[in-house]
Amino acid sequence: GQPTPHREVPSGDVKDSTFLRACRREPVSHTPVWFMRQAGRSLPEYRKVREGIGMLDSCMRPDLVAEITMQPVRRHNVDAAIYFSDIVVPLKALGIGLDIKPGVGPVVDEPVRGAADLERLRPLEPDDVGYVTEAVRLLVDELGSTPLIGFAGAPFTLASYLVEGGPSKNHERTKALMYGEPELWARLLDRLADITAAFLKVQIEAGASAVQLFDSWVGALAPEDYRRSVLPASRKVFEAVAGYGVPRIHFGVGTGELLGLLGQAGADVVGVDWRVPLDEAARRVGPGTALQGNLDPAVLFAPREAVQRQADRVLESARGLEGHIFNLGHGVLPATDPQALTDLVSYVHERSAR
Ligand code: CP3
Repeated sequence: GQPTPHREVPSGDVKDSTFLRACRREPVSHTPVWFMRQAGRSLPEYRKVREGIGMLDSCMRPDLVAEITMQPVRRHNVDAAIYFSDIVVPLKALGIGLDIKPGVGPVVDEPVRGAADLERLRPLEPDDVGYVTEAVRLLVDELGSTPLIGFAGAPFTLASYLVEGGPSKNHERTKALMYGEPELWARLLDRLADITAAFLKVQIEAGASAVQLFDSWVGALAPEDYRRSVLPASRKVFEAVAGYGVPRIHFGVGTGELLGLLGQAGADVVGVDWRVPLDEAARRVGPGTALQGNLDPAVLFAPREAVQRQADRVLESARGLEGHIFNLGHGVLPATDPQALTDLVSYVHERSAR
C-alpha cells in the first residue's frame, strides 16, 4: 500500500490499546508491533519533508515533528508511534554546542572531560523544550487511541557522546573517566539522570502513553561495571517517572550478559536485541517484566518468505511470555524497503491473532 494522506483518528481508549495492554502483561487480541527508528530515512516521505532542514532544526519544529512521527503510523499500521526526536535534543536545549552530522551522528563541540564541564549540564526546565510539549499535544490529538511513546537517551549512552565528543567504537575516554575518576563519573551520570528524567516528564505530562530509555551502547560494559557505575543512574530515571503509571521501557544493544541487571533497574518492559532468544531473555530478566523485540533488522533485506520464517521464530520464542511487544532488535536500517515493514506488521498481526 501507498501511504494515505489522511488517516481516520481511531476512537476508543488509548489505555485499552494492544501496546499498553502488552506492556502491562495483560491478554491481547494480537501481538502489538512497532519499530525503533520507524520514522526516518527508510521512508521517501520523510526524506522529502526533511529536504534542506537540519536534523536538530527539524526536532524543534512541532509541525514537522508531528508530521514525521505520523508517517510510519499511516503507512505501516503499527500499534504505537514513537515521538520523532533524538537522544541529544535535551542536551542541545541546555545550550550545549553539538550537532548531528549526516552519516556520522551526534558531534559535541567541547567534550566533557573535567569537573568544570559538569556546570554546563544544568537542570532541564520544561520551558527549555516548549516545542516538545507542543508537538506531543498535536500528536495525542491526531493519534486518538494509538499510543505515543516518548523517549530519552540513558545516562551512559549520553555520557559516551559527551565524553568522546562523537560516536565511538570502543568508548575509551568514557571508560577512562569511569575507571579513573569514579567520583566525577558518578556526578556526571547523576546530572544526566536528572536531565533525562525531566525530559521524560515533559513528554508524559504533555500526553505520552509510555516512555523508552535508550541505552544503546551500554552493551560495551561488563556486568559488574554496569552494576556499580551505571545502574544507579538508570534506576534513578525510572524511579523519577514511576508515579505516572505509564509503562517504562529499557533498551540496549549487545546486552545479553546484562539482562538480569537491566531487569533490576526498574523498567516495566525490557527491550532485547536479536542475539538472545526471547524465552532465554525472559529467564535472564526475571518474572514480572514484559519483553520487546527482537527480529534482526538485517533480516528485512531477505525475501519475504525468509522474513516471515524469522518473524515466526520470534513469535515462537515469545509464546510462553506474559507481555510481548514485537519490534526489531535495533533500529530500522536506512536502506530497508518500507514495504517489507508494512508486510511484516500485517504478518505479525495475522499470525498472533487470538
Ligand atoms: O525511532 C524513531 O522513529 C524516532 C527517531 C529517533 C531518532 N534518533 C531520529 C534520528 C530515535 C529514537 C533516535 C534515538 C537515537 N539517536 C539513539 C538511540 C537509538 C538507537 O538507534 O540506538 C542514538 C544512539 C542516537 C544518536 C544518533 N542520532 C545516531 C547514531 C544517528 C545516525 C547518524 C546517521 O546519519 O547515520 C542520529 C541521527 C538521527 N536520529 C537520524 C534520525 C532519523 C538520521 C539523521 C537524518 O535523518 O538526517
